[in-house]
Amino acid sequence: MTESHHAVFGHPITHSLSPRIHTRFGHQTGIVIHFEAIDATPETFATALDAFVAGGGTGASVTLPLKELALTLCADASDRARRAGAVNTLVREGDRWLGDNTDGIGLVRDLTGRHGLDLRQRRTLLLGAGGAARGVAPALIDAGIGEMFIVNRSSDRADALVDTLGQPKRVHSRYFEDLPALGEFDLVVNATSAARSGGLPTLPTSLVGARTACVDLSYGEVAIPFLAWARAAGAHHAIDGVGMLVEQAAEAFKLWHGVRPHTDEAYAALRERDVLLVTGD
Ligand code: ATR
Repeated sequence: MTESHHAVFGHPITHSLSPRIHTRFGHQTGIVIHFEAIDATPETFATALDAFVAGGGTGASVTLPLKELALTLCADASDRARRAGAVNTLVREGDRWLGDNTDGIGLVRDLTGRHGLDLRQRRTLLLGAGGAARGVAPALIDAGIGEMFIVNRSSDRADALVDTLGQPKRVHSRYFEDLPALGEFDLVVNATSAARSGGLPTLPTSLVGARTACVDLSYGEVAIPFLAWARAAGAHHAIDGVGMLVEQAAEAFKLWHGVRPHTDEAYAALRERDVLLVTGD
């Protein structure tokens, strides 16, 4: 059986959980895979990708800070990758890369499948308008959420994301200062990297009601402050990004190998290894 050669690119990448997740998927589906973590910065990414292809690489995951750059290296990209302006999955077809973005569907599958949430008509607050926020916003809209308010430190980025989403009656941009007046949300998604850079601005507990689900797209130590706030505010669900990580990986695996692995086992294994103490992808 030929071994398929895949990798995750990012910086930093040492703590990446992707090789572990994909190796487990390979065992489960009987597909022999070699999956490595390759450290690459925006300056070295294109060269590293060429070297990977020369060594037989046929598919790659892309994480911070390379997702936007990855889109520019693709000959073609899926509609959802274009809407996100970012690529997290590269598929080799002939002598060119096709780009896709499985982050949004990964989040939706985690929330609906694993956590049993019905997203339809959920009044949603999206904190952040960077790469992570752009990756998930289109999928949340496609999943049928109700109104979405996007709040970002720099309002021009929030406005730009609202424009990209193209649903002016449903999606609105607001300032952090507006939060106390916005009332209660059914879904609050933290897509900022604030915990890694200076800390999240104070959030009013009035955003949270008894049935609110609060989700942080990151995991490990950086997810702790937002999830602690959510629990203290009385949220019904406080969910970190581990499930999304596993689900986006399963979608990537399907693009590369044509079969979607079951994710419960990989998810449980990460939880058992106390992934809360692991940071980065
Ligand atoms: P990522 O790919 O993780 O989204 P990014 O594109 O650099 O990374 O975006 C980081 C997000 O976190 C942005 O929404 C950023 O707000 P700005 O667009 O105003 O920079 C947000 N962010 C980072 N540090 C923050 C802080 N200390 N307070 C509030 N928001 C912060």
